[in-house]
Amino acid sequence: MPEVTFTVEETGTEFVLDATGHATLMHVAVENDVPNIEGECGGDMSCGTCHVYVERMPVGYLAPQSSDEIDMLEVVNEPTDASRLACQLPVNESVGGLRLRVPKL
Ligand code: FES
Repeated sequence: MPEVTFTVEETGTEFVLDATGHATLMHVAVENDVPNIEGECGGDMSCGTCHVYVERMPVGYLAPQSSDEIDMLEVVNEPTDASRLACQLPVNESVGGLRLRVPKL
């Protein structure tokens, strides 16, 4: 039962969610109605509506960035070194404890 915390930057609201059974962290957020994560393209890396900042990362996690993800992150609002596309972060056993901040779209 890996728990992932999404903090919505705009309101400070925290969503502590069980990621079990979801393919990616984008799916966890969308299926639990986390504001400002829309996942419009379904994970094809063409919309940027799943942009998050990684605030705390468990040891051994995360999947490395592909060149396509890096390209997409160049066009999201206010990218930083902590930026990731949640659709490119698969759920696995080591995801527990991950904290993500959700910027405005
Ligand atoms: S869901 Fe579209 S880029 Fe992640």
